[in-house]
Amino acid sequence: MGMRIEKNHDENFQKLDEVLAQYKDQQGMLIRILQKAQEIFGHLPDEVQSYIAEKTDIPISTVNGVVSFYSFFSQEPQGKYTVGVCLGTACYVKGAQEVLEEIKEELGLDVGETTLDHMFTLKATRCIGACGLAPVITINDDVHGRLSPSDIPSILHQYMKNQKEPVVK
Ligand code: FES
Repeated sequence: MGMRIEKNHDENFQKLDEVLAQYKDQQGMLIRILQKAQEIFGHLPDEVQSYIAEKTDIPISTVNGVVSFYSFFSQEPQGKYTVGVCLGTACYVKGAQEVLEEIKEELGLDVGETTLDHMFTLKATRCIGACGLAPVITINDDVHGRLSPSDIPSILHQYMKNQKEPVVK
């Protein structure tokens, strides 16, 4: 894993340089730059934040403040799939907590953590507006509803399986 990151490291910084060249002299472009940087690196580690701060002459405290403020920025590596368990009221009363416990057990994760193979990140979410399907979880853009804990292993397994198959378009 470490090796893969090393190999892409220089290439990623080159891409970031291109983004910076494109945006850095424009006003109010910090969020745009950070979004692009997150697309490139997958998350925004300290090293990337300091680099952006230095190149844009924006204080690191400002850069870090923006990254911390917006929930769509992440300072930790994220899994390929983000599993979001809705803990809104409707889902909660229909057993979201039990579903969450089952997912934690299957993946060996606590909320906010990512599996070592970078496949899954576990999050708890607020109501996602699908209360009719309660309890619901999201896996990236997919919504799975009317769940019971016993549904969880096979759902997760579908994503694990997809990963191993070549992508056919
Ligand atoms: S409370 Fe879960 S979707 Fe609304």
